[in-house]
Amino acid sequence: MRAYGVIYPSTMPTIDNPTEKTLAELGLTNSSEIPVLFASVREQFDRQLAAKSGSEPDYLALHYAWLGRKAGVLSAITDNWLKSAPPALRPVVGQSLNELKRHIESSLESFRVAVEKSSAEAAATREKVDLSLPGVIRPIGSHHLIRQVFQEIEDIFFSIGFSVVEGPEIETPYYNFEALNIPEYHPVRDDMDTFYLELPKGAPGPLLLRTHTSPVQIHTMEKRQPPVRVIVPGKVYRRDNPDATHSFMFHQIEGLAVDSDITFCDFTGTIDYFVKQFFGESVKTRFRPSYFPFTEPSVEFDASCIFCGGTGTAKSGGTCGKCKGVGWIELFGAGMVDPAVYGFVNYDPKKVSGFAFGIGIDRLAMLKYGIDDIQVFFQNDVRFLRQFS
Ligand code: FA5
Repeated sequence: MRAYGVIYPSTMPTIDNPTEKTLAELGLTNSSEIPVLFASVREQFDRQLAAKSGSEPDYLALHYAWLGRKAGVLSAITDNWLKSAPPALRPVVGQSLNELKRHIESSLESFRVAVEKSSAEAAATREKVDLSLPGVIRPIGSHHLIRQVFQEIEDIFFSIGFSVVEGPEIETPYYNFEALNIPEYHPVRDDMDTFYLELPKGAPGPLLLRTHTSPVQIHTMEKRQPPVRVIVPGKVYRRDNPDATHSFMFHQIEGLAVDSDITFCDFTGTIDYFVKQFFGESVKTRFRPSYFPFTEPSVEFDASCIFCGGTGTAKSGGTCGKCKGVGWIELFGAGMVDPAVYGFVNYDPKKVSGFAFGIGIDRLAMLKYGIDDIQVFFQNDVRFLRQFS
């Protein structure tokens, strides 16, 4: 077959690219020569196609070179051979061009399908899941025991109509003390050695880290009218030296219920329900007189010893080491809200009554889960934490 030169897309200048010339410039005047010319073009296309590896970039390059609108070989042939062909040659050029176009299009389409198939197969092999391989173990965390105990207690109080509120850990002396009926120089402030914040000169008033969750009683009553039934979980701070039962940061849950007709019986019944839910039905409660400036009367709640069943005698026969033979364990302080407190929140003490309690969560958790040193809660030793995950 006669050679007409190498064909490239017309954007690539070449010395003898035949598609850049007209038929006259190629010296073709006879219609019998046209099929030979097109056969040469087709042969070059077939050769280029056979030389490609079957990748997507190869397909795109071929498509651009042969079918590209501006620079493709077929566009060049249309412009240079068909449009300028003498009328006698035009039918045969048009027919040959159509045949060539069909051949190139169908070949490129088969090429594209093959490329797609092989890349899908490659992806499938790459992404194949080998179920026999060991899984990737990603350690997931768990709630700290204190958080778990918070949730246990919250669930118990949710079940009897309480909701959760929270308050600030940085407080003014007014909320931490005065509005709770603890004026300055009241001796009870000694029990709550307090961290005061160092403030820049000229800052308004002193600020402190709250020593208990009771200030949230005041915030809540300032914002809401009775009936109020809330619990307040949170962190509190005291300048206590760390030992097995003391930490300078610990956790409390405050409880507050105020309504028009709340009695002392509602109060003790609620506490008894909570203690039985938390420690077990067989646990009994009792209360002893106590003193808090913001409750009147004030009490200290005890539970029958969960270790010796309230007998005071250990299973071994000796004295129970947990309750020291008394049969009772001190739980937390509580009482009926002192009417003086209502004066600070504009409640009418003649119309409302209520009760409040403040549970030390860390010590309660120690009791329930047999932990004898409060410090382990804050040391982040995973050997301890994992026992409660
Ligand atoms: C109060 O804080 C009162 N606000 C509780 C209250 C609320 C009474 C509402 C009446 C009505 P108290 O100072 O006793 O009370 O502390 C409550 C609990 O916090 C204690 O029973 C104890 O469990 C825990 N607690 C106190 N100091 C520490 C400490 N340094 N480390 C760990 N727990 C502590």
